[in-house]
Amino acid sequence: MTEALSTLLKKPLRQKDADIHMLILSALFQAKFMQTPPHALVSENVEAARSLKKEWACKLVNAVLRRYLKENQVNALDSKTHFDCNHPPWLAALIRQDWPDDWESILMANNAHPPLTLRVNSQRVTRSEYLETLIEKNIEAVSTHHSPDGVIIKNPIPLESLPGFHEGHFSVQDEAAQLSRLVLNINKPGLILDACAAPGGKTTHLLEHLNEENSLLSVDCDQDRMKRLTKNLARLGMSCETLIADATQLNSSPEKNYGFILLDGPCSASGVIRRHPDIRFHRREADIVKLAEKQLALLERLWHLLADNGKLLYVTCSILRAENDNVIEGFLEENSDAETDTGSFLWGVKTKHGRQILPGVSNMDGFYFSLIKKRNKCHVQLAK
Ligand SMILES: C[S@@+](CC[C@H](N)C(=O)[O-])C[C@H]1O[C@@H](n2cnc3c(N)ncnc32)[C@H](O)[C@@H]1O
Repeated sequence: MTEALSTLLKKPLRQKDADIHMLILSALFQAKFMQTPPHALVSENVEAARSLKKEWACKLVNAVLRRYLKENQVNALDSKTHFDCNHPPWLAALIRQDWPDDWESILMANNAHPPLTLRVNSQRVTRSEYLETLIEKNIEAVSTHHSPDGVIIKNPIPLESLPGFHEGHFSVQDEAAQLSRLVLNINKPGLILDACAAPGGKTTHLLEHLNEENSLLSVDCDQDRMKRLTKNLARLGMSCETLIADATQLNSSPEKNYGFILLDGPCSASGVIRRHPDIRFHRREADIVKLAEKQLALLERLWHLLADNGKLLYVTCSILRAENDNVIEGFLEENSDAETDTGSFLWGVKTKHGRQILPGVSNMDGFYFSLIKKRNKCHVQLAK
């Protein structure tokens, strides 16, 4: 009920109005579990607000309860209410629109417990060595199915109790995120840019598999998150060049172009609700449009930094098309030298411009990948 209330209020009530907060909560309880008739529900609770000598709250109680009743009536038509699935109506509707065949299982997966998935630091230990160490300590674990670097701990325990934490033998990272390395597939010497890198989950994963012929620049605009990236690099025993900067302002120079760019930018995080349940109540519908604009601006800027025949991997932990295929579609319309490669992977759902993992499928987080290749300028000229 508390979560339902937070979606109904434009902003939280002040501490001194805790009585009104409790009044609305109890009214919602009456509406949901006691079948109080709607007219009685509204009028009695408005009167109760008045008797608390808070005339201003009468209007609020009236509006909140009427909105709840109206939305519940709409939802009742679907046999399953959005509140039952614990999602705000706008988000449930968007998920349903984007994934008409999967929306119910997505909402349920968002309410389930996520696994504790680790990524073994191949610079320090192999996955089979680490699994053996876990067995010796009586910690049940299995290998991840699609990522060659992952391990799932069957009964999660505090990280510090896992062997090798301080020695940098592993990082915590969902299997879906681990697949970024495989999709980007760095197979040539040269410069690599991780443009929205903090706290370094993917930077450190890429570094674990690079050799001296490659060098990686890790950029993020958030100073505090970059401090966490530096700490993670130190714990895992690796290093790279780092820069605190807005990636939409990075300068390009042909001699410093990157062969591989990873863009894991800001997003709604609608694919990782099972890990961060509050996300659904903090996000607003209007955020999605703003995020899509940011994502496109980042893509446009980074494209100038990519070498001919280079590859840019765009990833989000979102399941919303507005932040995924639609962003890529807008980008492709403006950049004739760009083409997407949807690859042939055994995981995820193929979309127009990439692949989408839906939350909970193969026990993974929701994640989107689009690999964009930059065609050589001569080829683009010839094609015109
Ligand atoms: C999804 S998180 C990145 C997670 C990271 N790639 C990892 O694997 O640990 C998105 C990041 O984008 C950064 N960011 C947002 N806008 C940015 C911008 N304009 N330039 C650089 N970084 C940006 C945020 O600070 C945040 O750290």
